Amino acid sequence: MKIYPYYPKPIKNKASIFTRYFKNRRSWLNSLYERSYTMKMGEFKVPLIDIYIVNEPDLIHRVMVTEVKFFPKHHLQHEMLKPVLGESIFTTNGKVWKKQRELLNPSFEMTRISHVFDLMQEASQDLLARLEKRNPNTYTDIDKEMTFVTADIIFRTILSKKLTLEEGEKIVKAFEIFQETSAKITMLKIFKIPKIFHSKKLESSYKESGNIIRQSLADIIQPRYDDSLNKNAYKDILSTLLKVIDEETAKPFSFQEILDQVAMLFLAGHETSASSLTWTLYLLALYPEHQESAYEEIIHACGKEKFSVQNIKELTFLTKIVKESLRLYPPVSFFPRETVEATTMRNKKLKKGSVVVVSPWLMHRNNRYWEDPHMFNPHRFDDPKSIHKHTYFPFGMGQRVCIGSAFAMQETLLLLASMIREYKLEVEPGFTPDIVGRLTTRSLNGLNVKFIKREGVS
Ligand code: HEM
Repeated sequence: MKIYPYYPKPIKNKASIFTRYFKNRRSWLNSLYERSYTMKMGEFKVPLIDIYIVNEPDLIHRVMVTEVKFFPKHHLQHEMLKPVLGESIFTTNGKVWKKQRELLNPSFEMTRISHVFDLMQEASQDLLARLEKRNPNTYTDIDKEMTFVTADIIFRTILSKKLTLEEGEKIVKAFEIFQETSAKITMLKIFKIPKIFHSKKLESSYKESGNIIRQSLADIIQPRYDDSLNKNAYKDILSTLLKVIDEETAKPFSFQEILDQVAMLFLAGHETSASSLTWTLYLLALYPEHQESAYEEIIHACGKEKFSVQNIKELTFLTKIVKESLRLYPPVSFFPRETVEATTMRNKKLKKGSVVVVSPWLMHRNNRYWEDPHMFNPHRFDDPKSIHKHTYFPFGMGQRVCIGSAFAMQETLLLLASMIREYKLEVEPGFTPDIVGRLTTRSLNGLNVKFIKREGVS
């Protein structure tokens, strides 16, 4: 019997606007119909705002690449993330975004160097030490572990600082609250629910959680910013940001600008990778035959030696597993854009200010382009030419494509290889993830996996 990895069962009947509202407040993935996966374009009308989902490769390419300037990132996403990210490249548009991206690119050039790989390796050793201390007979919530280790890697590579368990718990908790409250507040805004009906508690936990994250980062950045004579003392991403000079103004980034970009890199850089790692571990635990092939590949590439950048490049099957996991569970499940002028799509007239959503979750599971789309099958990626154009984009597409994709792939492969080499993974029998698609695709009830030490591993 075929085993399918979990995904929320599509709903059967056309739901009322209120049902959709309440389902969406929880997560949009729970309010999809079977047809949502195959439609070319969907329309979702709520009072005073038109929302369209484009789900056809050429339309997606139009929104993300050829006509990108007519479909900027949606202003509500910017507003929603502002308490943490300020004015950072994840949500800005136009000239501001262009300048920020140019200034950030050099920082990402430096992530390719081996120094960053060494820092990732140190964090992975600490992860293995934490796993070693667990009771081997119990299930581990890998979502928590992956969130911590990816946050730790971002701390080490951006700020040259190890994340302490206490600081990690504080920031992760704050971000959980921020994700939940910001999703609810955005739904209230989309449905134009007047402010007097917004709960004060909701608004204050949203702002407070944002402040906690920002303040923790500000406390680390401030002394480095003030110590301007010592800019070469570190080899991290913050040091490249501190040195960048804007050619137009001949000025460096201000403290607030640096804080905005660091906060954005911290969140964009760990939440997504944690989601990708968690879902990949779940899939490996669910499919022992693929897990064993990955293990053999790792042993063949590196034995029991310390991993090198070259070893990681040799893990071609594990790379296919990660790609397939990013297909089934894209960490960013939807990209919201807005129309800057009226336009036409598939004979539909879209007003200026309409919301246009591109969703890798839907396109990656569309049976027009993927055979048996809800099934886990890493061999789909054996022949890259067999993948239809513009149907696979876990890192986005066009000029707004993820700046950290190479960083993320290296980190994901290294952490997976380190864990699989030491442990066999088993998923908890009967466990069903409570999957939600908010800022990232996560399981609200965690994800329980048993780590069983492999024989012969000291
Ligand atoms: C598996 C891990 C990751 C996934 C799946 C992912 C996915 C994405 C996606 C889909 C976008 C585009 C969103 C849109 O068009 O609306 C994006 C943008 C971005 N990502 Fe990632 N990301 C990952 C890891 C990272 C890491 C590790 C970093 C940094 C350390 C990072 C930094 C960014 C930044 C700065 C942007 C905004 C780029 C721009 O708009 O110019 N991401 N990411």
